[in-house]
Amino acid sequence: MADLKAKLELPENGSIELPVKQGTAGHDVIDISKLGSSGYFTFDPGFLATASCESAITYIDGDKGVLLHRGYPIDQLAEESNYLDLCYLLFYGELPNKEQYAQFVETVKTHTMVHEQLAFFFRGFRRDAHPMAMLCGVTGALSAFYQDSLDVNDPKHRRIAAFRLVSKMPTIAAMCYKYSQGQPFIYPRNELSYAGNFLQMMFAVPCEDYKVNPIVERAMDRIFVLHADHEQNASTSTVRLAGSSGANPFACIAAGIASLWGPAHGGANEACLNMLEEIGTVDRIPEFIERAKDKDDPFRLMGFGHRVYKNFDPRAKVMRETCHEVLEELKIDDPLLDVAMELERIALNDEYFISKKLYPNVDFYSGIIMKAIGIPTSMFTVIFALARTSGWIAHWKEMLDQPGHKISRPRQLYTGKDSRNFVELKDRD
Ligand code: SDX
Repeated sequence: MADLKAKLELPENGSIELPVKQGTAGHDVIDISKLGSSGYFTFDPGFLATASCESAITYIDGDKGVLLHRGYPIDQLAEESNYLDLCYLLFYGELPNKEQYAQFVETVKTHTMVHEQLAFFFRGFRRDAHPMAMLCGVTGALSAFYQDSLDVNDPKHRRIAAFRLVSKMPTIAAMCYKYSQGQPFIYPRNELSYAGNFLQMMFAVPCEDYKVNPIVERAMDRIFVLHADHEQNASTSTVRLAGSSGANPFACIAAGIASLWGPAHGGANEACLNMLEEIGTVDRIPEFIERAKDKDDPFRLMGFGHRVYKNFDPRAKVMRETCHEVLEELKIDDPLLDVAMELERIALNDEYFISKKLYPNVDFYSGIIMKAIGIPTSMFTVIFALARTSGWIAHWKEMLDQPGHKISRPRQLYTGKDSRNFVELKDRD
């Protein structure tokens, strides 16, 4: 790589030369780690132009609508791969051969059950607790049940924690749903696929046999694949930040779940379906489009826009095709899809959305598919978190594997009061 430099002219103290680091693709970066000695910090709230780390896991080209996992395009992975195949790729950097794949799947299957005491842990929640609140609480509590995999400096602990999380997240997610329904928890069935096992834990009941619908199983696995990882998004950055302090893996993933819950991030799929239901009919779309444009109205079109994609989110394209396939194959005529299609058509032809490059994102269609599968809206972000667990773990592992990794500790622009003396209560006005 060429030895590139950037020269920064400072208002005082002359100028400073900063090294430029080049990646495989995308933006090169100016390494500012030594800038502090010049008396200046950079300022970038929301990190719009800040690379927080070096990573080889996922690459996004927002202008071209490209998403690569370890170099493989998301549309090929969604079509040809499956979620556990992708988990292996995200963790280890290469697609597994037949033997590696069989071993990985076998290991995941043998960790799908949770500690029996965890069932009692749920009893502390109200039945009407939001499933994300339960998922966040239970995941954070896993460190109380699996103390033999908490030492992040021990590669064996990191490996077993990674498997426990990938294996148990579907079980815990389904337990959140069953608990909210007042139904008994359903144990995993290891002869089923990862997606099939999740569906049976969600929808089976002890009083009758449950048969996994292969169409629904394929759609569920594809939703897991499309949500697995997405570079340094808010929740992944949260996991990295928590992990940088040496916090245990379960606490780090719980932090990621908390961040993902926000409606600007993973909570958008639930918010998007609620929005489509609020719109209700095609003739009400113009009213909501006007609200989305109104600066004084906090309303935004959920499922539209993205910090990085200023083109179609490639996941939304695949999700859109899957949406049509599932509704057709399940013979579901969902008027909300008509509203979604018309909303997409109007928004994509509206000057406001075109000028601001607001396209449908991954959350726009996922909700309609999950509703068609029979998953309640309150579980949408839980499923996003289940799928993103593999991405969170991959980044957590990558960070810990990087030699000389430090605790993340951003600085600030201080705009508070200058130093002043304390005033006794009796002397205050
Ligand atoms: C995910 O980062 C990731 O990778 C996330 C994710 C992942 O896989 O991890 O892809 C998953 O979170 C997808 C995004 C889901 N969120 C939503 O669908 C919520 C609705 N979208 C927005 O809130 C918004 O688009 C964000 C949060 C996604 C992105 O916001 P930015 O990049 O901070 O952009 P911005 O808020 O500064 O918006 C730029 C302009 C603003 O107008 P101006 O102030 O310039 O006049 O576009 C407008 C915004 O008002 N705008 C919208 C809008 N999104 C942005 N206007 C109406 N509806 C919208 N949805």
